[in-house]
Formats: sequence, C-alpha cells, structure tokens
Amino acid sequence: MSGLLAGKRLLVTGVITDASIAFSVAKISQEADATVVLTGFGRLSLVERIAKRLPSPPPVIELDVTSEEHLAGLGDRVREHVDGLDGVVHSIAFGPQSVLGGEFLNAGWEDVSRAIQVSTYSYKSLAVACLPMMQSGGSIVGLTFDATKAWPVYDWMGVAKAGLESASRYLALHLGKQGIRSNLVSAGPLRTMAAKSIPGFEQFEDAWAERAPLGWDLSNQEPAARAVCALLSDWFPATTGEIVHVDGGYHALGA
Ligand SMILES: NC(=O)c1ccc[n+]([C@@H]2O[C@H](COP(=O)([O-])OP(=O)(O)OC[C@H]3O[C@@H](n4cnc5c(N)ncnc54)[C@H](O)[C@@H]3O)[C@@H](O)[C@H]2O)c1
Repeated sequence: MSGLLAGKRLLVTGVITDASIAFSVAKISQEADATVVLTGFGRLSLVERIAKRLPSPPPVIELDVTSEEHLAGLGDRVREHVDGLDGVVHSIAFGPQSVLGGEFLNAGWEDVSRAIQVSTYSYKSLAVACLPMMQSGGSIVGLTFDATKAWPVYDWMGVAKAGLESASRYLALHLGKQGIRSNLVSAGPLRTMAAKSIPGFEQFEDAWAERAPLGWDLSNQEPAARAVCALLSDWFPATTGEIVHVDGGYHALGA
C-alpha cells in the first residue's frame, strides 16, 4: 500500500475503539503515506488514547455531526493541522435502541429522526462543512450496510442507510463540477461497538459465516478499510455515486 495515498490530506471521522472501521482506515491510510486528522465524538480522551495506537498518532478534533457550532468551526480546526483536504471519511451511525431489533412498527418519530439525522443527513452536513477545504477536488467516502434489502433486526437503521445511499448519489450530482467524488463502501457485518448495540446482530454473523462465497471474517475490518482507501486514492478518478460491496460476495446471492 506504500505510496498509494502519498500527498493526500484526509479527515477521518468515526474512531471510538481500535475495532472501529475508521481506525483501520486511518491505519491503512498512514501506511499508504497519507496525512490523517481524526475527529472524535463525545469521549475525546478515549479517542485520543486509541489514536496513539496508530503508526503516527494524528490530531483529534471534536465533532458532533449534529452540532451546527462544531460543523461551522470544523474548517478552522482542521486548518490548524493541514492546509486543505483531499479526502473525507464518514464512518458514523447511530440509532436509539427503539429503532432497531425488530421494533420497526413501534419506533416513534423522535428516535427515528435522530437515527436519520446522525446516520444520513450528516453525510451531507460533513461534506458541506469540508467543502471550503477541498478547493482542488477530492473524494468523500462513507460506509453503508446493504440497504436494497429489509434485514431481520436492522429496521429503521436500514431506512437510514437507504437514505445515505441516495444522499451519496445526490452529493455526487451536486459536487461533481467541483471535482469531488462521493462513494460508499457496503461492508458485511463487523464486530464493532455500533454492531454490538444492535439486538440480534448475531443473525447477520451466522448468515454471513454460512453463505458468503469468499467466507467472511467478522473481526477483520481491513478489507472494508482497504476499499475506502482505494476510493480515496487516485485509482478511481472517474467513479462517483458508486457503492462498492466488501461483504465476501453475500450481496450477489439469491434467497
Ligand atoms: N459494523 C458493521 O457491521 C458495519 C457494517 C456496514 C457498515 N457499517 C457502518 O460503518 C460505520 C462505522 O461504524 P463501525 O461499525 O465502525 O462502529 P463504531 O461504533 O466503531 O463507529 C461508529 C462511530 O459513529 C460515531 N458517532 C455516533 N454519533 C455521532 C455523532 N453525533 N457525531 C459524530 N460521530 C458520531 C461514534 O462516535 C463512533 O465513532 C457506520 O456508518 C456503520 O453503520 C458498519
């Protein structure tokens, strides 16, 4: 991977543990010679501690994607460390317990709207907040879980991901003229903090273990992270509005 991201200045959101997909993205990006700035949500000292486990501990900026104040100040905070951005990684999702785990019919709008604000709308908010730093174009990459299907326990998070997939296509439409690409990686199930908060997540684990044509390692974030890095690199210069599946081939199967 050495050199793949040489000269790239990247903003990576979503690190909370070293199992976070974003942690692997940051690690592989640094190994590929990128300069990385992280953002952390809430537990900043924890994120800073985790960041020290990266090959070259990056700065951590506080960012709650639902805070207008944080979004408005993001540019100034990022410029304290890099003079612009070539890539932005959105690795953020949240849904209150009531919107997951089979409660689709009972979830109320307040909780559903929170899930959509954090997991869907924030993709646009983050992109817009970063635009002034992307004067020479660049690449925005997010993470989805295949939203073309209804999954047993994913419920309103699935709806939020369907919205994210659409939002990525609209960002591709609206930012293309500025040379900015927007793509998603659709990952198979991975044992992260977000995944552990989904009641019944083991149903996904069993399904992937049994059926993914290439097999699937629930504890290996690297394949998804590598795809993110590839989309951040110059090797997909004419690809935007795309969803790259990194799921062992599961999505290609029939029932
Ligand atoms: N783990 C999986 O099985 C899987 C599969 C496909 C896609 N994804 C997606 O990958 C992305 C990263 O999740 P992960 O699995 O690495 O879990 P994770 O728990 O490590 O990361 C989720 C991140 O979202 C952040 N976050 C939550 N609310 C936020 C807010 N208001 N502002 C800013 N950040 C906020 C958390 O701090 C955390 O760092 C998510 O979009 C998730 O849906 C995960």
